[in-house]
Amino acid sequence: MPHYLINGGKRLDGTVEISPAKNAVLPIMCASLMIRGKTLIKDCPRLGDVMVMCDILKGFGAKTTFTPQGLLINAENINTSEIDGALAGKIRASFFLVGALISRLKWADCPMPGGCKIGTRPIDIHLAGLKALGVEISVLDSRILFDAKNAKSSRVRLRYPSVGATENLIMAAVFLKGDTYIENCATEPEIKDLVEFLNIAGAKIYGGGTRFIRVCGVENLTENIEYKPIPDRIETGTFLLATYLLGGKVYLKGANAENIFYLIKNTPNNSCKIYARYVNIYEKGIYIVAKGEPISFGSIVCAPYPLFPTDLQPILGAVAAASKGITKITETVFDSRFLYLEELFKMGAKFSLKDNTATIVGAPLFGTTVEAKDLRGGAALVLAGLKASGKTKVLGAENVMRGYLDFDKKLTALGADITLID
Ligand code: UD1
Repeated sequence: MPHYLINGGKRLDGTVEISPAKNAVLPIMCASLMIRGKTLIKDCPRLGDVMVMCDILKGFGAKTTFTPQGLLINAENINTSEIDGALAGKIRASFFLVGALISRLKWADCPMPGGCKIGTRPIDIHLAGLKALGVEISVLDSRILFDAKNAKSSRVRLRYPSVGATENLIMAAVFLKGDTYIENCATEPEIKDLVEFLNIAGAKIYGGGTRFIRVCGVENLTENIEYKPIPDRIETGTFLLATYLLGGKVYLKGANAENIFYLIKNTPNNSCKIYARYVNIYEKGIYIVAKGEPISFGSIVCAPYPLFPTDLQPILGAVAAASKGITKITETVFDSRFLYLEELFKMGAKFSLKDNTATIVGAPLFGTTVEAKDLRGGAALVLAGLKASGKTKVLGAENVMRGYLDFDKKLTALGADITLID
């Protein structure tokens, strides 16, 4: 079982390159199915979730190859819209394929989606939106069948700005005749990125990254598209918080400060200075200088973009557990995202939980054996181990590898003492 061995107490110094965002890459991989030919996702990270998505795409007849430039997908011959049950169970983003598949083949056969165990994660918003576009939906055992023969452009209002539902509906509407209006969309930067990718391929989508999106139907998309997805704002936030926690001087090469502005604005600045850097028009970055002991962030509410991202909630929880003072973290997006706190407890963390708010009182952490049960909770345990006294063993490293490229290697290059045992 892959695990990390960590010797805590080291400062971080140096440069780390931020990879393209997992949550931008996955929907773009889905959208590549709508292109009858080749798509190159430049610098695509070989993450666990990306490899699972490659296997799912191959099951439809697509070819996926990693080249020195990135991930090359050839979706010229797509012969089925049936999503493999075992693979779909591994990643939530498997359900984001529905929009692309019904656009391409007018039908899809999809099992219930998987992903991190961080809440109930229903799919009602996806289904209501697709129904509003005239897609017929039936449930057979544990599979959902989508028939889009009679789908047509329409006006859809999401009851909540779900990221995946917004992406699914955009993809479902690209080839529908006329204009589709989607209201109350999620505004996460990854949605704007998906829209940018589709528009480069010839789609006509307006308002990506805002609450209101208009999709004007087109007949087809152009092949041979090359696209580099946006830098990962969650990886950016993780390294920013790691530097805040451990102290040091770190440059996050390629990071986009705009997409993580709320975190930057709320990071206590008495012992930590954060500078957004524009080296030239092609290279952005963030420079962090952290001196002295970390203090509490006060009260933070995790909510949809542009507010504090839920995917950084566990990372902030680890920082809070080892920072001076009391931090209150309220989670409004997912209903059971505090599971990692039970593991942090084994390392000496002090906290209480009431409804969706955790109150964490900073205390010295000590190394022990803990288990990463989900992706971001696992990264939080790694950060706690890097701060703790003594040795920490983090089991379940495969969960962390689902979404962080070379996490151990990037941390080691900054001076941390962490080894991945495969
Ligand atoms: C995406 C991200 C995930 C991130 C989340 C919120 C990917 C692959 N994953 O997940 O990392 O944490 O956005 O920023 O991009 N909901 C419903 N019904 C639905 C759909 C969602 O009730 O049909 C609820 C969910 O249970 C959750 C909330 O809406 O409580 C937000 O979910 P959503 O925005 O859909 O997240 P995902 O797209 O699954």
